[in-house]
Amino acid sequence: MKKTLIVNYTPRVDSNTKKMVDYFIESNKMKTEITFLDLTEETPDLLLKDNLNLYVARNFGGVALSKDQQNVLSKNDKMMTQLLDTDFVVLASPMYNFTIPATVKAWFDAVIQAGRTFAYTDTGIKGLCENKQALILMTSGSDFDSEPYNKVNFATPLLLTSFGFIGIPAEAINSFGLVQYADKVEEMLANSKRKIDLLSKKWY
Ligand SMILES: Cc1cc2nc3c(=O)[nH]c(=O)nc-3n(C[C@H](O)[C@H](O)[C@H](O)COP(=O)(O)O)c2cc1C
Repeated sequence: MKKTLIVNYTPRVDSNTKKMVDYFIESNKMKTEITFLDLTEETPDLLLKDNLNLYVARNFGGVALSKDQQNVLSKNDKMMTQLLDTDFVVLASPMYNFTIPATVKAWFDAVIQAGRTFAYTDTGIKGLCENKQALILMTSGSDFDSEPYNKVNFATPLLLTSFGFIGIPAEAINSFGLVQYADKVEEMLANSKRKIDLLSKKWY
């Protein structure tokens, strides 16, 4: 059975993004082996002085770390290994302040690792994650298809680029405008669920 990693950041009570990811899981749990990573409970370490310098020394400088030093990187390394070990990845998150929440960015900072998930080659950067696909499930308060916000959705390009950078083709199913069009929330979520059905048929 193929494996699916769910990377979930839906901390709000009655989260609409959670409704989308719950629907994905309920629809597909018999067809794939699911690993659920809740970023609000298992939160990646921010890259600060200690871990950043160890990461750079190891991944860019080829330095062999001691066991204690490896331990400093172990939480983020575990998340990277989890990603390398899956066939499909579903990232569920709301949009915060025109982009992705810092916690979700911290997950990308954990899993985008030189020499492990991408490499520098003679012909440029190469993503090392092979034979994987990603789905992004995102909600927002405002409509990003029309003025004044139609040019400031920095979340979707960042997510597609980040997955692509490590070799994972990704597609996004967005329910944008859930606050702006509060009377249409159920309709918009139902529309996203239909898209999830179509993608699920393609994947499994
Ligand atoms: C801290 C914070 C920042 C937000 N920033 C934006 C934003 O930049 N653009 C937007 O359209 N909505 C923004 N929102 C609204 C949420 O994206 C929107 O309500 C989303 O559907 C919430 O997802 P949830 O129901 O899963 O919590 C923000 C909400 C919060 C709590």
